[in-house]
Amino acid sequence: MTRNQKPRHKKIDLMTTKPRLNICITCTASNADAQTDPRHGKMLFDRMVELCAERDLPFDLRPAECLTNCKSGCSVALNGSGKWGYVYGNVDPETMIDDLCDLATRYADSDDGIVAWRERPETLRRNVIARIPPLDGI
Ligand code: FES
Repeated sequence: MTRNQKPRHKKIDLMTTKPRLNICITCTASNADAQTDPRHGKMLFDRMVELCAERDLPFDLRPAECLTNCKSGCSVALNGSGKWGYVYGNVDPETMIDDLCDLATRYADSDDGIVAWRERPETLRRNVIARIPPLDGI
């Protein structure tokens, strides 16, 4: 690649050793009457960015556009090297920020991504939509 050519993918920007909390920024909350501007998912993401700026957290934040869980928005996905991936739905951007941060921290601190049910914040215990086997390890 010459100096003037742009890379085809921004892989370097996405390389991280930290687990990742992906937040759908295009979600509308499942209990909402209508879409908002900004969307509920974007509000959730922005609030998590603010919270993360105040703390040294063991995970990275990433915006995502649709996790194909639109009927149960706001949706987030946790993934990391050697860890099971998890999709959560119905995350309330008003009331669940601290709990989501707690869950993502426990996820990041785990060896395999599995956070025992009783160790999950109560508000998120019943919000798992799917879990996905790790690509590597296990
Ligand atoms: S718009 Fe958020 S999961 Fe589809």
